[in-house]
Order: sequence, then C-alpha cells, then structure tokens
Amino acid sequence: DWTSEQFIDATVAELQEQIGDDKVVLGLSGGVDSSVAAMLIHQAIGKNLYCIFVDNGLLRKDEFETVLDSYKHMGLNVKGVDAKAKFYEALAGLTDPEQKRKAIGRVFIEVFDDEAHQIEDVKWLAQGTIYPDVIESVSVKGPSATIKSHHNVGGLPDFMKLKVVEPLKTLFKDEVRLVGKTLNIDETIIGRHPFPGPGLAIRILGDITPEKVSVLQQVDHIFISNLKKSGLYDEVWQAGAILTPVQSVGVMGDERTYENVVALRAVTSIDGMTADWSRLPYEFLADVSNEIINKVKGVNRVVYDISSKPPATIEWE
Ligand code: XMP
Repeated sequence: DWTSEQFIDATVAELQEQIGDDKVVLGLSGGVDSSVAAMLIHQAIGKNLYCIFVDNGLLRKDEFETVLDSYKHMGLNVKGVDAKAKFYEALAGLTDPEQKRKAIGRVFIEVFDDEAHQIEDVKWLAQGTIYPDVIESVSVKGPSATIKSHHNVGGLPDFMKLKVVEPLKTLFKDEVRLVGKTLNIDETIIGRHPFPGPGLAIRILGDITPEKVSVLQQVDHIFISNLKKSGLYDEVWQAGAILTPVQSVGVMGDERTYENVVALRAVTSIDGMTADWSRLPYEFLADVSNEIINKVKGVNRVVYDISSKPPATIEWE
C-alpha cells in the first residue's frame, strides 16, 4: 500500500542519489505542486535547491508577500523577484486571451532565465509536474506548461537545457496533498484552490492595467475571505472573480453611477476537466455582493455565474 511516509523516504533517497552535490533551480508558483516538490527536494539536498518565486503582478491580493513569507518559514532557499512592471508592459493593449497568455509565458521565461543564470553552475531544473499533467494532452498547469507550450518559439532558453527532475510525476493531486501534509507544509498552501498560471490576467476581460488588477484583487479578496470565514472554501474546488468590461447603471444616494459589472465563479469538480457551479447559499452571495459593491470603487453590480463545464469553461478567457 502507498503511504506518504514511504514515498517521501524513497524519493528523498533517489533524489540524493540522482542529484548528488549538484545545484537545482525550481520555479515556485504558490500552488500545491511546486511547493511540495520544493520541500521534497529541499529534504534531499537542502540549500543546493534554489527556488525562484516571480511576482507577475497578476497574483491575488497580498499573495506574493504572504506566500514568500511562508516559503521562508519552511526553510526554503527562495528568491522573490518583483517583475510586475515587465509583465504589465508586455500586456499593455493586448485583449486577445491567447495573446495575453503568450505574453505572460514569454516574460516568465525571460525573467526565470535571467534568474537561473545568476545561479553559478546550476545543473538541474525541478518541476512540480504531477501525473495528470503528464497524461493530459492539453496541459494547463503552471510554469511548466507555460514553458512546454513555448518550446518551439525561437531558441530554447538556457535553463531548458538543464536536466529535468520531476519528483511528483507519478502522483495524483490528493497524494501530493498527503505528501505535503506529512512534510508539514502550511495548510494554507496544501488546501489552496488551483489558480491559473496567467493569474488575474485571464479574469480581466480585455486589456490589463494595474488599476484593473487592483479592482479585481479587492473583489476577489472579499469573495475568497468570505468563503474561508463561512467554512465554504473547502467545499469549492475553485473560486474567483471576473472583471467584465461591461458597465451598467446604478444608484448611489442621489447619484446615478455607471460602473463595472463583476462576476463571481465558484465550481465543484474532481480534476477541472468537468465542473458544476457551486450552489452557494443565497445569504452568503447576498453578503458578498453587498460588501463588494459597498467597498470596491468602480464596481456597482455583481452577478453569479451559473454555467457548468462543458459547455462553459471554468475561466472566462
Ligand atoms: P478552464 O477554463 O479551461 O480551466 O475550464 C480548467 C482549469 O485550468 C486552469 N487554467 C489554466 N491554468 N494556465 C494555467 O496554468 C492557463 O492558461 C489556464 N487556463 C485555465 C483553470 O484555472 C482551471 O483550474
């Protein structure tokens, strides 16, 4: 029978054998997979694991700082890289979802490559690839997929010529979570909803500006923290908010307002391939809607997405 303890013992021993005294670079995303991969490799080789966590300016509110802090507490050798400006610059004026994804992937590779170059004599690239990523033909996960889908654009960045180590590639998500628990990784990381690599950029329909990101971060934060407060977070597979380019009329006191509509999306799912909209309680939705409209400047209407996948996707872009 599979146990996380056995898996960890065997994998740590294999990693030590395989890597020896070499240096390894790994891109952390804040998600479960890259975090568990990092902690496993850290157990095996300690400070020879160099982690890079990039702030692309498209993360949730305060996420970069909070997650970077927990990584440091976990003892990881991690460098936080503020690359917000580079991402915003590359995204300026882009409205097509695939172009936005490509721009984000390209900048991520540039930033990661620059950072990897600063690690002298690094030999390995570690990735948090899990079994479903290996079998899924259309991979949608994190930096590794971003990297894969850009394989054939121009020459390979240097870090991609490194030897690859993927300690989780035989595991399913629930097994990754068990391994993470056994490794004492923070529950806020282990229990985290999936979050797309391009982040809030694919939840802001149309072009991206730092102002729109800030509006969406506030909305998303109200939604997610209320889910946590009311004990609903773990019942939902993924949740988030979408900033639409639609403006609608509202009233505020005696004033007529004309501001943006945001949509809330929460789904239940096993693997993200199919999904159903979460039957969140009306009272909960009412409270979240009121709080968003009262607190977030620029938003005067909230709608709830009641589409299942298929035919709708989870993300709007
Ligand atoms: P869809 O919208 O296709 O999403 O139903 C299924 C799952 O994949 C995530 N997703 C992405 N993840 N890069 C990612 O890393 C992407 O470009 C991307 N697009 C969608 C989505 O958040 C959901 O978990």
